[in-house]
Amino acid sequence: MAVNKIAVIGSGLMGSGIAYVSAWNGIHVTMVDIKQEYIDAGMERIRTDVMTGIDKGKISMSEAEGLMSRLNATIDLEGAVKDADMVIEAIFENMKVKKEVFAKIDAAAPPHCIIASNTSSLSIDELATATKRPDKVIGMHYFSPVAAMKLLEVVIGEKTSEETIAAAIAVGEKQKKQTVKAKNSPGFIVNRILMPVLREAIILYEQGVATKEEIDNAMTTKAKFPAGPFTLGDFVGLDVAFNAMSTLYRELGDCFKPPEVLAKLVEEGAIGTKAKKGFYQYGAEQAEPEEPKGVDSDWLVNRITMPVLREAMILVDHGIANENDIDIGMKLGASFPAGPFETLNKIGKDKVRNELEKLHKELGECYSVPKYLG
Ligand SMILES: NC(=O)c1ccc[n+]([C@@H]2O[C@H](COP(=O)([O-])OP(=O)(O)OC[C@H]3O[C@@H](n4cnc5c(N)ncnc54)[C@H](O)[C@@H]3O)[C@@H](O)[C@H]2O)c1
Repeated sequence: MAVNKIAVIGSGLMGSGIAYVSAWNGIHVTMVDIKQEYIDAGMERIRTDVMTGIDKGKISMSEAEGLMSRLNATIDLEGAVKDADMVIEAIFENMKVKKEVFAKIDAAAPPHCIIASNTSSLSIDELATATKRPDKVIGMHYFSPVAAMKLLEVVIGEKTSEETIAAAIAVGEKQKKQTVKAKNSPGFIVNRILMPVLREAIILYEQGVATKEEIDNAMTTKAKFPAGPFTLGDFVGLDVAFNAMSTLYRELGDCFKPPEVLAKLVEEGAIGTKAKKGFYQYGAEQAEPEEPKGVDSDWLVNRITMPVLREAMILVDHGIANENDIDIGMKLGASFPAGPFETLNKIGKDKVRNELEKLHKELGECYSVPKYLG
């Protein structure tokens, strides 16, 4: 099915980004929000992006005019969706509110229209129950900032049809995104596999095995990550990380339990760079780095890598995603220097099995050997 007209619901950070990449790539878009002032703010964000593109020589004046001519905005949701081929919802992350909006879209959109959600953590299957067209409901999980981030996770619900999946992938490709497929499940691919990096790092710090600086340093210099877990956590926001981990803990159990240090920092409002303090301090007040514990950086990288590889293998074991999509997702969505399966093959399955067997004996079920390793 050809998608020529999209309605984007929500003109916030993500909605305006999705509207921008759609209009930029030839799709007609109507962006919807609840108040004119929110729409104005969303349109202003898009105009700024367009102006930056012009300044950098990436967008010509006539391309900018073309882009803006394909873009409309309104507070009339029903009017915006009534002739749409696809609706992409990007409103607040709240199941009740999203379901209400899904029901409204379902009532007003034409029968062929696909309804997608940009949710980061909510169940696509539950969202689909708010409509009479669960076969046409799908997740389209973009990453922030939408214009710069290449990845689109296409999240497939139990009832999502093949035709809907193909249409979502085609729209993603038209928007110049690299698409990966994941079955509807907590955290999809990227958030689920990223979480053990942060959690393991915090646990090692909490237990006094290594300092934050030693762990960050090991992950950047040895494992070649662009940022260490503590720096990344502060940048993303410890509140965001804590919420994501708590959702996975609720849905998947103890192996995602947020460490106490993280909960305490969030409680104290030390939520990262936006609060000028998180794991580290920012601005004028710089804390002295802790005395190094002297732990070997190769050991640290290995210790953090094993649960990450394990989680990636569990996703394959459970039929949630395939190896190739997981590798692409982690490289493009979380800036992993190599995909988990590339790393697994480099280290060797036998060695990874031995390492996990040791950790399993020492630390328990969260390190058990997945079926994938036989
Ligand atoms: N921010 C991120 O990094 C990120 C990344 C991936 C996915 N997401 C997901 O994208 C969604 C939106 O996140 P955001 O960061 O853009 O939020 P945001 O707060 O910037 O924007 C949400 C917008 O939705 C509007 N809105 C709320 N209810 C509405 C309704 N009934 N009808 C129309 N508009 C309505 C709000 O007025 C607001 O402008 C969430 O589901 C979030 O989990 C966010």
